Amino acid sequence: MKITASAPGKIALFGEHAVVYGKPAIVSSIDKRIYVTIEERSDDDLKISAMDLHIPGIILTYSKDERLPKVETNFSRVEEAVSYVQKGIYLASEYCGKSKGVNVEVRSEMPVGAGLGTSAALSVATAYAYLTLLGSEIKRESLADLGHKIEVAVQGSASPMDTAVATFGGLLQVTPLLKGPSIERIGFHQIPGLVIGYTPREATTADLLKRVRSLRSSFPEAVESIMSAIGSIVSASRRALEKGDLASLGELMNINHGLLESLGVSSKRLNDMVYSARYAGALGSKLTGAGGGGCMIALSPSKENAVKTAIQVEGGIPLAASLSDIGAKIEG
Ligand code: MEV
Repeated sequence: MKITASAPGKIALFGEHAVVYGKPAIVSSIDKRIYVTIEERSDDDLKISAMDLHIPGIILTYSKDERLPKVETNFSRVEEAVSYVQKGIYLASEYCGKSKGVNVEVRSEMPVGAGLGTSAALSVATAYAYLTLLGSEIKRESLADLGHKIEVAVQGSASPMDTAVATFGGLLQVTPLLKGPSIERIGFHQIPGLVIGYTPREATTADLLKRVRSLRSSFPEAVESIMSAIGSIVSASRRALEKGDLASLGELMNINHGLLESLGVSSKRLNDMVYSARYAGALGSKLTGAGGGGCMIALSPSKENAVKTAIQVEGGIPLAASLSDIGAKIEG
């Protein structure tokens, strides 16, 4: 028996990093997805094939105990991706109290580890496909929660933002609360002229989360004020989104980028892309996701081509993706 589940990538419009410390964030799923196919094996092994991650493919075979895999490769992004699959299988087994040896095949329509939520999509799609193969039903809230646990197990910390949007899809405001996240659907809008630029990551999400945590423990009051300012931007941007006020959204993106930069999560290449997009006519631009390279977004109504060229001049790659409202699903 063979099951394929898929889950979407995402763009964090406002509030990344501060959401890890309890502030709200606004995030949308995109029309690029991760597909995880799980097939039953006749033994107890876990075989992971990650041939299609936009980086040279490898196939790994090892037993599915809780230890993270020893991966013989220099490609740390592949190693990261494999860890999410392995933890996903382990925690999904624990969730339903059953297990089976399986072959797992991962395919991605977007660059992995680029700030587009691929680790959350991978965690959610792996758990969904595996549980379905085992005949175990799961509600969306529990799938989002399981996905979040997988991310925390691999990264050390994570907010519920990426796994919520990978599970539910749509344009969401996610607010972490003690009793579990509040997930509010903002109503689906295409945001005109949203351009995405990509540059390879120089650090992993776990590294960037660690960097912010360490800055916060050195300067708790200063960093808390930055987090609170980001929280206020999220409230203002929700109002701007609901009114379709693009000029304000652009300005809020610029402020949000400045605050993320002050947390030390941007990079020279990302800043160059962000600023050049503004000079090319974008109403606003910011890094999106964990940072350290990866992706930036620019709000560029009627200036898309000029902004894409500006991104390319800075060595970035414009990505063709649009907002979508389709969450995790079982294919076919
Ligand atoms: C990563 O896509 C977004 C971060 O806020 C981390 C998280 O929310 O788990 C940096």
